[in-house]
Amino acid sequence: MTTLPHEIQRRRTFAIISHPDAGKTTMTEKLLLYGGAIQSAGSVTAKQNQKQTQSDWMTIEQQRGISISSSALVFDYHGYHINLLDTPGHQDFSEDTYRTLMAVDSALMMLDAARGVQAQTEKLFAVCRNKNIPIITFMNKMDRPAMDFFELLEQVESTLKIKVVPMTWPIGSGPDFKGVYDLQQKRVFLFERTEHGKKRAPVQVADLNDPQLESLLGSDALQILQDQVEMVEGVLDPFDMELFLKGEMTPVFWGSAITNFGVENFLDALVELAPSPHAIETTLGTLEPTEESFTGFIFKLQANMSKQHRDRTAYMRVASGTFERGMAVTHTRTGREIRLSRAHTLFAQDRESIEVAYPGDIVGLVNPGVFQIGDVVSVNPKIRLTDFPRFTPEHFATVSPKDVSKRKAFRKGLEQLSEEGVVQIFYPTDGARDPILGVVGQLQFEVFEHRMLEEYNVAIDLIHSSYKLVRWLAGEPSALARFAKHVEDDRGRPVMLFRNRFDLDFALEQYPDLEFLPQPRDM
Ligand code: G4P
Repeated sequence: MTTLPHEIQRRRTFAIISHPDAGKTTMTEKLLLYGGAIQSAGSVTAKQNQKQTQSDWMTIEQQRGISISSSALVFDYHGYHINLLDTPGHQDFSEDTYRTLMAVDSALMMLDAARGVQAQTEKLFAVCRNKNIPIITFMNKMDRPAMDFFELLEQVESTLKIKVVPMTWPIGSGPDFKGVYDLQQKRVFLFERTEHGKKRAPVQVADLNDPQLESLLGSDALQILQDQVEMVEGVLDPFDMELFLKGEMTPVFWGSAITNFGVENFLDALVELAPSPHAIETTLGTLEPTEESFTGFIFKLQANMSKQHRDRTAYMRVASGTFERGMAVTHTRTGREIRLSRAHTLFAQDRESIEVAYPGDIVGLVNPGVFQIGDVVSVNPKIRLTDFPRFTPEHFATVSPKDVSKRKAFRKGLEQLSEEGVVQIFYPTDGARDPILGVVGQLQFEVFEHRMLEEYNVAIDLIHSSYKLVRWLAGEPSALARFAKHVEDDRGRPVMLFRNRFDLDFALEQYPDLEFLPQPRDM
Protein backbone atom coordinates (compact mmCIF):
# COMPACT_ATOMS: atom_id res chain seq x y z
CA MET A 1 0.00 0.00 0.00
CA THR A 2 1.95 3.01 -1.23
CA THR A 3 -0.16 5.67 0.46
CA LEU A 4 0.56 4.50 4.01
CA PRO A 5 3.90 6.34 4.59
CA HIS A 6 2.43 9.50 3.08
CA GLU A 7 -0.68 9.31 5.28
CA ILE A 8 1.45 8.75 8.40
CA GLN A 9 3.79 11.59 7.57
CA ARG A 10 0.93 14.09 7.25
CA ARG A 11 -0.77 13.14 10.52
CA ARG A 12 -0.52 15.15 13.72
CA THR A 13 -2.37 13.83 16.75
CA PHE A 14 -2.27 16.09 19.78
CA ALA A 15 -4.15 17.29 22.85
CA ILE A 16 -4.33 20.59 24.69
CA ILE A 17 -3.25 20.61 28.32
CA SER A 18 -4.18 23.58 30.45
CA HIS A 19 -5.61 24.78 33.72
CA PRO A 20 -9.36 25.56 33.60
CA ASP A 21 -10.05 28.98 32.08
CA ALA A 22 -6.69 29.31 30.34
CA GLY A 23 -8.55 29.21 27.02
CA LYS A 24 -8.57 25.60 25.82
CA THR A 25 -12.13 25.71 24.51
CA THR A 26 -11.49 29.02 22.77
CA MET A 27 -8.31 27.68 21.20
CA THR A 28 -10.07 24.51 20.05
CA GLU A 29 -12.65 26.63 18.34
CA LYS A 30 -10.05 28.81 16.65
CA LEU A 31 -8.07 25.82 15.45
CA LEU A 32 -11.20 24.45 13.85
CA LEU A 33 -11.83 27.84 12.31
CA TYR A 34 -8.36 28.00 10.80
CA GLY A 35 -8.62 24.38 9.77
CA GLY A 36 -11.83 25.21 7.91
CA ALA A 37 -13.85 22.70 9.93
CA ILE A 38 -16.28 25.41 11.02
CA GLN A 39 -17.22 28.61 9.21
CA SER A 40 -17.48 31.03 12.07
CA ALA A 41 -16.42 30.91 15.65
CA GLY A 42 -19.13 30.44 18.23
CA SER A 43 -20.28 26.99 17.24
CA VAL A 44 -17.93 25.24 19.62
CA THR A 45 -18.13 27.44 22.72
CA ALA A 46 -21.49 27.33 24.36
CA LYS A 47 -21.09 30.30 26.56
CA GLN A 48 -21.75 33.10 24.12
CA ASN A 49 -24.19 31.57 21.70
CA GLN A 50 -26.10 29.35 24.10
CA LYS A 51 -25.33 26.49 21.77
CA GLN A 52 -24.03 23.23 23.00
CA THR A 53 -20.31 22.83 23.02
CA GLN A 54 -19.58 20.21 20.43
CA SER A 55 -17.25 18.29 22.66
CA ASP A 56 -19.53 18.54 25.69
CA TRP A 57 -21.77 15.54 25.91
CA MET A 58 -23.32 15.20 29.23
CA THR A 59 -25.71 17.30 31.22
CA ILE A 60 -23.31 17.53 34.12
CA GLU A 61 -20.84 19.18 31.82
CA GLN A 62 -23.38 21.73 30.73
CA GLN A 63 -24.48 22.42 34.30
CA ARG A 64 -20.94 23.01 35.43
CA GLY A 65 -19.71 24.50 32.18
CA ILE A 66 -16.81 22.11 32.09
CA SER A 67 -15.75 19.43 29.71
CA ILE A 68 -15.49 16.04 31.34
CA SER A 69 -15.39 13.59 28.51
CA SER A 70 -12.84 13.62 25.77
CA SER A 71 -13.66 13.69 22.12
CA ALA A 72 -11.65 13.70 18.96
CA LEU A 73 -11.91 16.54 16.50
CA VAL A 74 -10.46 16.18 13.05
CA PHE A 75 -9.45 18.79 10.49
CA ASP A 76 -7.04 19.36 7.63
CA TYR A 77 -4.55 22.20 7.51
CA HIS A 78 -2.07 22.87 4.68
CA GLY A 79 -2.25 19.26 3.57
CA TYR A 80 -1.82 17.89 7.10
CA HIS A 81 -4.44 15.77 8.78
CA ILE A 82 -4.89 16.86 12.37
CA ASN A 83 -6.52 14.90 15.17
CA LEU A 84 -7.18 17.00 18.26
CA LEU A 85 -8.11 14.99 21.32
CA ASP A 86 -10.01 16.97 23.91
CA THR A 87 -8.84 16.39 27.47
CA PRO A 88 -11.00 17.17 30.46
CA GLY A 89 -10.10 20.56 31.84
CA HIS A 90 -11.68 20.54 35.28
CA GLN A 91 -9.86 21.05 38.56
CA ASP A 92 -10.02 17.46 39.57
CA PHE A 93 -8.04 14.91 37.77
CA SER A 94 -9.43 11.72 36.35
CA GLU A 95 -8.07 8.67 34.63
CA ASP A 96 -9.74 9.75 31.46
CA THR A 97 -7.29 12.57 30.96
CA TYR A 98 -4.37 10.30 31.53
CA ARG A 99 -5.60 7.75 29.04
CA THR A 100 -6.20 10.35 26.39
CA LEU A 101 -2.60 11.45 26.70
CA MET A 102 -1.56 7.85 25.96
CA ALA A 103 -3.00 8.33 22.49
CA VAL A 104 -1.29 11.55 21.38
CA ASP A 105 2.04 12.28 19.73
CA SER A 106 2.39 15.81 21.06
CA ALA A 107 0.63 18.32 23.31
CA LEU A 108 -0.13 22.00 23.29
CA MET A 109 0.36 23.51 26.74
CA MET A 110 -1.74 26.64 27.12
CA LEU A 111 -0.98 29.09 29.89
CA ASP A 112 -2.83 32.22 30.88
CA ALA A 113 0.00 34.75 30.49
CA ALA A 114 -1.22 36.66 33.54
CA ARG A 115 -1.24 33.59 35.76
CA GLY A 116 1.61 31.44 34.52
CA VAL A 117 1.89 27.79 35.51
CA GLN A 118 -1.15 26.65 37.51
CA ALA A 119 -1.93 23.46 39.43
CA GLN A 120 -3.69 21.51 36.70
CA THR A 121 -1.06 22.47 34.13
CA GLU A 122 1.58 20.99 36.39
CA LYS A 123 -0.25 17.68 36.79
CA LEU A 124 -0.96 17.26 33.10
CA PHE A 125 2.54 18.34 32.23
CA ALA A 126 3.92 15.65 34.53
CA VAL A 127 2.00 12.99 32.59
CA CYS A 128 3.38 14.26 29.28
CA ARG A 129 6.86 14.42 30.69
CA ASN A 130 6.62 10.89 31.96
CA LYS A 131 5.75 9.70 28.46
CA ASN A 132 8.30 12.02 26.77
CA ILE A 133 5.54 13.72 24.82
CA PRO A 134 6.83 16.80 22.94
CA ILE A 135 5.13 19.98 24.15
CA ILE A 136 4.47 23.24 22.36
CA THR A 137 3.63 26.15 24.66
CA PHE A 138 1.13 28.93 23.95
CA MET A 139 1.03 31.97 26.24
CA ASN A 140 -2.59 33.02 25.97
CA LYS A 141 -4.59 36.16 26.78
CA MET A 142 -1.89 38.59 25.69
CA ASP A 143 -4.66 41.11 25.02
CA ARG A 144 -4.83 41.37 28.83
CA PRO A 145 -1.98 42.66 30.99
CA ALA A 146 0.48 39.77 31.27
CA MET A 147 3.28 38.85 33.68
CA ASP A 148 6.72 40.10 32.77
CA PHE A 149 7.65 38.01 29.72
CA PHE A 150 11.06 36.94 31.01
CA GLU A 151 9.63 36.10 34.44
CA LEU A 152 6.94 33.99 32.83
CA LEU A 153 9.50 32.00 30.85
CA GLU A 154 11.67 31.63 33.91
CA GLN A 155 8.68 30.33 35.87
CA VAL A 156 7.96 27.65 33.26
CA GLU A 157 11.61 26.59 33.25
CA SER A 158 11.96 26.40 36.99
CA THR A 159 8.54 24.94 37.87
CA LEU A 160 8.29 22.41 35.07
CA LYS A 161 11.98 21.75 34.58
CA ILE A 162 11.85 22.14 30.84
CA LYS A 163 13.96 24.39 28.63
CA VAL A 164 11.96 27.15 26.97
CA VAL A 165 12.67 28.64 23.55
CA PRO A 166 10.50 31.53 22.42
CA MET A 167 9.68 31.13 18.73
CA THR A 168 7.73 34.37 18.65
CA TRP A 169 8.04 37.38 20.91
CA PRO A 170 5.10 39.52 22.01
CA ILE A 171 4.93 43.21 21.22
CA GLY A 172 3.41 44.53 24.43
CA SER A 173 0.47 43.09 26.30
CA GLY A 174 -2.96 44.21 27.45
CA PRO A 175 -4.27 47.29 25.63
CA ASP A 176 -0.80 47.76 24.13
CA PHE A 177 -0.59 44.31 22.59
CA LYS A 178 0.29 44.85 18.96
CA GLY A 179 1.31 41.44 17.71
CA VAL A 180 4.30 39.16 17.70
CA TYR A 181 7.78 39.11 16.23
CA ASP A 182 8.70 35.79 14.67
CA LEU A 183 12.22 35.14 15.93
CA GLN A 184 12.90 32.41 13.40
CA GLN A 185 11.70 34.13 10.27
CA LYS A 186 12.67 37.61 11.55
CA ARG A 187 9.28 38.98 10.68
CA VAL A 188 6.74 41.07 12.51
CA PHE A 189 3.15 40.01 12.48
CA LEU A 190 0.83 42.85 13.28
CA PHE A 191 -2.65 41.94 14.24
CA GLU A 192 -5.89 43.78 14.22
CA ARG A 193 -8.71 42.95 16.54
CA THR A 194 -11.62 41.51 14.67
CA GLU A 195 -15.10 41.64 16.03
CA HIS A 196 -15.10 38.93 18.74
CA GLY A 197 -12.40 37.19 16.74
CA LYS A 198 -15.04 35.71 14.50
CA LYS A 199 -13.03 35.82 11.32
CA ARG A 200 -9.43 35.08 10.55
CA ALA A 201 -7.31 37.95 11.80
CA PRO A 202 -5.61 39.98 9.07
CA VAL A 203 -1.83 39.72 9.15
CA GLN A 204 0.67 42.26 7.94
CA VAL A 205 4.25 41.24 7.57
CA ALA A 206 7.34 43.42 7.79
CA ASP A 207 11.01 43.25 8.79
CA LEU A 208 12.14 44.41 12.24
CA ASN A 209 14.14 47.18 10.56
CA ASP A 210 11.32 48.19 8.27
CA PRO A 211 11.04 51.99 8.55
CA GLN A 212 7.24 51.57 8.54
CA LEU A 213 7.48 49.86 11.92
CA GLU A 214 8.11 52.98 13.88
CA SER A 215 4.91 54.54 12.66
CA LEU A 216 3.00 51.28 13.16
CA LEU A 217 4.26 50.46 16.66
CA GLY A 218 5.38 53.84 17.93
CA SER A 219 9.04 54.51 18.75
CA ASP A 220 8.77 53.39 22.41
CA ALA A 221 7.20 50.02 21.63
CA LEU A 222 9.72 49.46 18.85
CA GLN A 223 12.62 50.28 21.14
CA ILE A 224 11.34 47.86 23.81
CA LEU A 225 10.85 45.15 21.21
CA GLN A 226 14.34 45.64 19.77
CA ASP A 227 15.89 45.51 23.26
CA GLN A 228 13.94 42.42 24.28
CA VAL A 229 14.70 40.59 21.05
CA GLU A 230 18.37 41.36 21.46
CA MET A 231 18.24 39.95 24.97
CA VAL A 232 16.32 36.82 23.93
CA GLU A 233 18.72 36.13 21.10
CA GLY A 234 21.72 36.74 23.34
CA VAL A 235 20.58 34.79 26.38
CA LEU A 236 18.41 31.87 25.37
CA ASP A 237 19.42 28.62 23.71
CA PRO A 238 18.40 28.10 20.10
CA PHE A 239 15.63 25.64 19.31
CA ASP A 240 16.86 22.04 19.31
CA MET A 241 14.61 19.55 17.53
CA GLU A 242 16.09 16.57 19.30
CA LEU A 243 15.46 18.01 22.78
CA PHE A 244 11.94 19.01 21.75
CA LEU A 245 11.13 15.50 20.54
CA LYS A 246 12.40 14.08 23.84
CA GLY A 247 10.09 16.45 25.73
CA GLU A 248 13.01 18.36 27.26
CA MET A 249 12.58 21.65 25.42
CA THR A 250 9.41 23.54 24.54
CA PRO A 251 8.99 26.13 21.80
CA VAL A 252 6.91 29.05 23.07
CA PHE A 253 4.35 31.08 21.15
CA TRP A 254 2.39 34.10 22.35
CA GLY A 255 -1.04 35.22 21.43
CA SER A 256 -4.65 35.71 22.26
CA ALA A 257 -6.91 32.88 21.27
CA ILE A 258 -10.03 34.98 21.64
CA THR A 259 -8.88 37.52 19.07
CA ASN A 260 -7.05 34.93 16.92
CA PHE A 261 -3.64 36.52 17.66
CA GLY A 262 -0.93 33.94 17.16
CA VAL A 263 -3.20 30.98 16.42
CA GLU A 264 -1.86 30.61 12.91
CA ASN A 265 1.75 30.75 14.12
CA PHE A 266 0.99 27.92 16.47
CA LEU A 267 -0.70 25.82 13.77
CA ASP A 268 2.23 26.32 11.41
CA ALA A 269 4.57 25.19 14.18
CA LEU A 270 2.40 22.19 14.95
CA VAL A 271 2.58 20.86 11.41
CA GLU A 272 6.26 21.71 11.03
CA LEU A 273 7.66 20.69 14.41
CA ALA A 274 5.32 18.16 16.01
CA PRO A 275 6.08 14.55 15.22
CA SER A 276 3.93 12.28 13.09
CA PRO A 277 2.56 9.08 14.74
CA HIS A 278 5.06 7.27 16.92
CA ALA A 279 5.94 3.60 17.29
CA ILE A 280 4.50 1.65 20.23
CA GLU A 281 5.99 -1.00 22.47
CA THR A 282 4.35 -4.41 22.24
CA THR A 283 5.00 -7.93 23.47
CA LEU A 284 6.43 -8.65 20.02
CA GLY A 285 8.81 -5.68 20.12
CA THR A 286 8.56 -2.13 18.78
CA LEU A 287 5.71 -1.69 16.34
CA GLU A 288 6.33 1.01 13.74
CA PRO A 289 3.29 2.79 12.30
CA THR A 290 4.60 1.96 8.82
CA GLU A 291 4.16 -1.76 9.49
CA GLU A 292 1.68 -2.75 6.77
CA SER A 293 -0.52 -5.02 8.84
CA PHE A 294 -3.16 -3.27 10.89
CA THR A 295 -2.97 -2.97 14.69
CA GLY A 296 -4.96 -0.63 16.94
CA PHE A 297 -5.29 -0.19 20.69
CA ILE A 298 -8.16 0.86 22.92
CA PHE A 299 -7.34 3.82 25.16
CA LYS A 300 -10.75 4.90 26.37
CA LEU A 301 -14.26 3.56 26.78
CA GLN A 302 -17.40 5.55 27.16
CA ALA A 303 -20.98 4.51 27.75
CA ASN A 304 -24.10 6.46 26.75
CA MET A 305 -22.30 9.17 24.84
CA SER A 306 -25.51 10.79 23.80
CA LYS A 307 -29.20 10.27 24.31
CA GLN A 308 -29.54 9.25 20.63
CA HIS A 309 -26.82 6.64 20.96
CA ARG A 310 -27.23 4.80 24.22
CA ASP A 311 -24.44 2.39 23.66
CA ARG A 312 -20.84 1.96 24.58
CA THR A 313 -18.03 3.35 22.48
CA ALA A 314 -14.44 2.18 22.52
CA TYR A 315 -11.88 4.74 21.35
CA MET A 316 -9.23 3.06 19.28
CA ARG A 317 -6.02 4.62 18.08
CA VAL A 318 -4.65 3.12 14.89
CA ALA A 319 -1.08 2.10 15.70
CA SER A 320 0.05 0.56 12.41
CA GLY A 321 -1.17 -0.28 8.93
CA THR A 322 -4.48 0.71 7.40
CA PHE A 323 -7.80 0.33 9.14
CA GLU A 324 -10.71 -0.54 6.88
CA ARG A 325 -14.25 -0.70 8.12
CA GLY A 326 -15.57 -4.24 8.24
CA MET A 327 -12.13 -5.82 8.44
CA ALA A 328 -11.71 -9.05 10.41
CA VAL A 329 -9.18 -8.81 13.22
CA THR A 330 -8.27 -10.63 16.39
CA HIS A 331 -9.13 -9.22 19.77
CA THR A 332 -5.79 -10.35 21.10
CA ARG A 333 -6.59 -10.55 24.83
CA THR A 334 -9.35 -13.10 24.28
CA GLY A 335 -8.13 -14.53 20.98
CA ARG A 336 -11.58 -13.91 19.51
CA GLU A 337 -11.97 -12.98 15.89
CA ILE A 338 -14.11 -9.87 15.47
CA ARG A 339 -15.28 -7.78 12.56
CA LEU A 340 -14.81 -4.03 12.93
CA SER A 341 -17.93 -3.05 11.09
CA ARG A 342 -19.42 -0.36 13.31
CA ALA A 343 -16.73 2.28 13.23
CA HIS A 344 -17.47 5.96 13.50
CA THR A 345 -16.02 9.41 14.06
CA LEU A 346 -16.13 11.02 17.49
CA PHE A 347 -17.17 14.52 16.63
CA ALA A 348 -19.60 14.83 19.54
CA GLN A 349 -23.13 13.83 18.64
CA ASP A 350 -22.57 13.70 14.91
CA ARG A 351 -21.59 10.25 13.93
CA GLU A 352 -20.27 9.43 10.54
CA SER A 353 -18.96 6.07 9.52
CA ILE A 354 -15.22 5.81 9.13
CA GLU A 355 -14.27 3.73 6.11
CA VAL A 356 -10.50 4.02 6.26
CA ALA A 357 -8.11 5.26 8.95
CA TYR A 358 -4.34 5.48 9.28
CA PRO A 359 -1.89 5.49 12.20
CA GLY A 360 -2.57 8.38 14.56
CA ASP A 361 -6.30 8.42 13.73
CA ILE A 362 -8.92 7.77 16.37
CA VAL A 363 -11.79 5.47 15.51
CA GLY A 364 -14.90 5.01 17.64
CA LEU A 365 -15.96 1.38 17.79
CA VAL A 366 -19.32 0.29 19.09
CA ASN A 367 -18.43 -1.80 22.08
CA PRO A 368 -20.76 -4.60 23.03
CA GLY A 369 -18.81 -5.21 26.23
CA VAL A 370 -15.83 -6.81 24.50
CA PHE A 371 -13.21 -4.14 24.95
CA GLN A 372 -11.16 -3.10 27.93
CA ILE A 373 -8.64 -0.28 28.21
CA GLY A 374 -5.31 -1.36 26.80
CA ASP A 375 -6.80 -4.07 24.55
CA VAL A 376 -5.30 -4.63 21.15
CA VAL A 377 -7.11 -5.48 17.92
CA SER A 378 -4.85 -6.65 15.16
CA VAL A 379 -4.47 -8.87 12.15
CA ASN A 380 -1.61 -10.34 14.16
CA PRO A 381 -3.32 -12.53 16.80
CA LYS A 382 -0.33 -12.56 19.18
CA ILE A 383 0.31 -8.88 19.74
CA ARG A 384 -0.37 -7.14 23.09
CA LEU A 385 0.68 -3.82 24.65
CA THR A 386 3.50 -4.12 27.16
CA ASP A 387 2.30 -1.26 29.27
CA PHE A 388 -0.81 0.80 29.73
CA PRO A 389 -0.44 2.45 33.11
CA ARG A 390 -3.31 3.56 35.28
CA PHE A 391 -3.44 6.09 38.04
CA THR A 392 -3.39 4.98 41.65
CA PRO A 393 -6.65 5.97 43.40
CA GLU A 394 -6.35 8.37 46.32
CA HIS A 395 -9.95 8.58 47.60
CA PHE A 396 -12.26 5.72 48.51
CA ALA A 397 -15.96 5.37 49.31
CA THR A 398 -18.36 2.50 49.88
CA VAL A 399 -21.26 2.57 47.46
CA SER A 400 -24.75 1.07 47.58
CA PRO A 401 -28.05 1.69 45.79
CA LYS A 402 -30.62 3.66 47.81
CA ASP A 403 -33.30 1.30 46.57
CA VAL A 404 -32.24 -2.36 46.95
CA SER A 405 -34.64 -3.50 44.24
CA LYS A 406 -32.35 -1.68 41.78
CA ARG A 407 -29.39 -3.99 42.40
CA LYS A 408 -29.32 -5.30 38.87
CA ALA A 409 -29.16 -1.87 37.23
CA PHE A 410 -26.71 -0.83 39.96
CA ARG A 411 -24.35 -3.66 39.06
CA LYS A 412 -24.62 -2.92 35.35
CA GLY A 413 -23.83 0.79 35.89
CA LEU A 414 -20.99 -0.06 38.22
CA GLU A 415 -19.47 -2.42 35.71
CA GLN A 416 -19.80 -0.12 32.73
CA LEU A 417 -18.64 3.04 34.46
CA SER A 418 -15.66 1.34 36.02
CA GLU A 419 -14.79 -0.14 32.65
CA GLU A 420 -14.74 3.44 31.35
CA GLY A 421 -12.44 4.54 34.13
CA VAL A 422 -14.93 6.86 35.84
CA VAL A 423 -14.07 4.95 39.03
CA GLN A 424 -12.10 1.85 40.00
CA ILE A 425 -13.96 -0.83 41.95
CA PHE A 426 -12.75 -2.96 44.83
CA TYR A 427 -14.73 -5.82 46.32
CA PRO A 428 -14.52 -6.67 50.03
CA THR A 429 -13.28 -10.15 50.84
CA ASP A 430 -14.89 -10.27 54.29
CA GLY A 431 -18.38 -11.05 53.02
CA ALA A 432 -19.60 -7.43 53.05
CA ARG A 433 -21.79 -6.75 50.05
CA ASP A 434 -21.10 -3.14 49.13
CA PRO A 435 -18.16 -2.47 46.86
CA ILE A 436 -15.63 0.29 47.43
CA LEU A 437 -14.98 2.90 44.77
CA GLY A 438 -11.51 4.32 44.26
CA VAL A 439 -10.87 7.60 42.43
CA VAL A 440 -8.00 9.93 41.70
CA GLY A 441 -10.01 13.15 42.05
CA GLN A 442 -13.13 13.77 44.16
CA LEU A 443 -15.10 15.02 41.16
CA GLN A 444 -15.11 11.47 39.84
CA PHE A 445 -17.48 10.54 42.70
CA GLU A 446 -19.87 13.28 41.61
CA VAL A 447 -19.69 12.24 37.99
CA PHE A 448 -20.32 8.63 39.00
CA GLU A 449 -23.30 9.56 41.16
CA HIS A 450 -24.80 11.73 38.46
CA ARG A 451 -24.33 9.21 35.70
CA MET A 452 -25.72 6.34 37.78
CA LEU A 453 -28.88 8.37 38.20
CA GLU A 454 -29.11 9.77 34.66
CA GLU A 455 -28.09 6.72 32.70
CA TYR A 456 -29.03 3.78 34.90
CA ASN A 457 -31.80 5.37 36.95
CA VAL A 458 -30.15 4.34 40.20
CA ALA A 459 -29.77 6.73 43.13
CA ILE A 460 -26.77 5.80 45.26
CA ASP A 461 -25.38 6.32 48.73
CA LEU A 462 -21.70 6.99 49.14
CA ILE A 463 -19.90 6.62 52.45
CA HIS A 464 -16.44 8.09 52.35
CA SER A 465 -13.81 5.76 53.66
CA SER A 466 -10.94 6.36 56.04
CA TYR A 467 -8.63 4.35 53.77
CA LYS A 468 -6.28 6.54 51.79
CA LEU A 469 -3.69 4.32 50.18
CA VAL A 470 -3.97 1.33 47.91
CA ARG A 471 -1.41 -1.30 47.00
CA TRP A 472 -1.71 -4.32 44.76
CA LEU A 473 -0.17 -7.24 46.50
CA ALA A 474 2.14 -9.94 45.21
CA GLY A 475 2.02 -12.56 47.96
CA GLU A 476 -0.37 -13.90 50.58
CA PRO A 477 -2.47 -11.10 52.11
CA SER A 478 -3.81 -12.79 55.27
CA ALA A 479 -0.94 -11.69 57.52
CA LEU A 480 -1.77 -8.07 56.84
CA ALA A 481 -5.38 -8.15 58.02
CA ARG A 482 -4.50 -6.46 61.32
CA PHE A 483 -3.72 -3.08 59.87
CA ALA A 484 -5.04 -3.04 56.30
CA LYS A 485 -8.25 -3.94 54.53
CA HIS A 486 -8.05 -6.83 52.13
CA VAL A 487 -10.13 -6.31 48.97
CA GLU A 488 -10.01 -7.51 45.38
CA ASP A 489 -10.03 -5.49 42.20
CA ASP A 490 -12.37 -6.14 39.27
CA ARG A 491 -10.13 -8.95 38.07
CA GLY A 492 -9.88 -10.70 41.42
CA ARG A 493 -6.34 -9.57 42.19
CA PRO A 494 -5.53 -9.08 45.89
CA VAL A 495 -5.40 -5.44 46.95
CA MET A 496 -4.72 -3.89 50.35
CA LEU A 497 -6.18 -0.58 51.51
CA PHE A 498 -4.20 1.34 54.13
CA ARG A 499 -5.38 4.17 56.33
CA ASN A 500 -2.14 6.07 56.15
CA ARG A 501 1.48 6.06 55.13
CA PHE A 502 2.55 4.92 58.57
CA ASP A 503 0.59 1.66 58.30
CA LEU A 504 1.93 1.05 54.83
CA ASP A 505 5.53 1.67 55.90
CA PHE A 506 5.02 -0.68 58.83
CA ALA A 507 3.72 -3.39 56.49
CA LEU A 508 6.68 -2.88 54.17
CA GLU A 509 9.03 -3.30 57.10
CA GLN A 510 7.28 -6.30 58.64
CA TYR A 511 6.78 -8.25 55.43
CA PRO A 512 9.84 -7.74 53.28
CA ASP A 513 8.90 -10.79 51.21
CA LEU A 514 5.65 -9.28 49.99
CA GLU A 515 5.50 -6.82 47.13
CA PHE A 516 3.25 -3.76 47.37
CA LEU A 517 2.60 -2.25 43.97
CA PRO A 518 0.87 1.09 43.28
CA GLN A 519 -0.67 -0.43 40.15
CA PRO A 520 -1.42 -3.99 39.05
CA ARG A 521 1.55 -5.50 37.27
CA ASP A 522 -0.37 -6.91 34.31
CA MET A 523 -3.25 -5.34 32.40
P1 G4P B 1 -11.05 26.63 29.16
O1 G4P B 1 -11.69 25.83 28.07
O2 G4P B 1 -9.56 26.46 29.22
O3 G4P B 1 -11.68 26.49 30.50
O4 G4P B 1 -11.20 28.17 28.80
P2 G4P B 1 -12.19 28.92 27.81
O5 G4P B 1 -11.75 28.80 26.41
O6 G4P B 1 -13.60 28.59 28.14
O7 G4P B 1 -11.86 30.41 28.27
C1 G4P B 1 -12.07 30.85 29.59
C2 G4P B 1 -12.41 32.33 29.56
O8 G4P B 1 -11.29 33.06 29.07
C3 G4P B 1 -13.57 32.67 28.65
O9 G4P B 1 -14.22 33.79 29.20
C4 G4P B 1 -12.88 33.07 27.36
O10 G4P B 1 -13.66 33.91 26.57
C5 G4P B 1 -11.66 33.78 27.92
N1 G4P B 1 -10.53 33.78 26.98
C6 G4P B 1 -10.03 32.75 26.26
N2 G4P B 1 -8.98 33.16 25.52
C7 G4P B 1 -8.82 34.47 25.79
C8 G4P B 1 -7.91 35.46 25.31
O11 G4P B 1 -7.04 35.22 24.49
N3 G4P B 1 -8.07 36.71 25.84
C9 G4P B 1 -9.03 37.04 26.73
N4 G4P B 1 -9.09 38.28 27.15
N5 G4P B 1 -9.91 36.13 27.17
C10 G4P B 1 -9.81 34.87 26.71
P3 G4P B 1 -15.57 33.68 29.96
O12 G4P B 1 -15.91 35.06 30.41
O13 G4P B 1 -15.49 32.60 31.01
O14 G4P B 1 -16.57 33.16 28.89
P4 G4P B 1 -17.15 33.93 27.60
O15 G4P B 1 -18.40 34.51 28.10
O16 G4P B 1 -16.15 34.93 27.18
O17 G4P B 1 -17.33 32.83 26.60
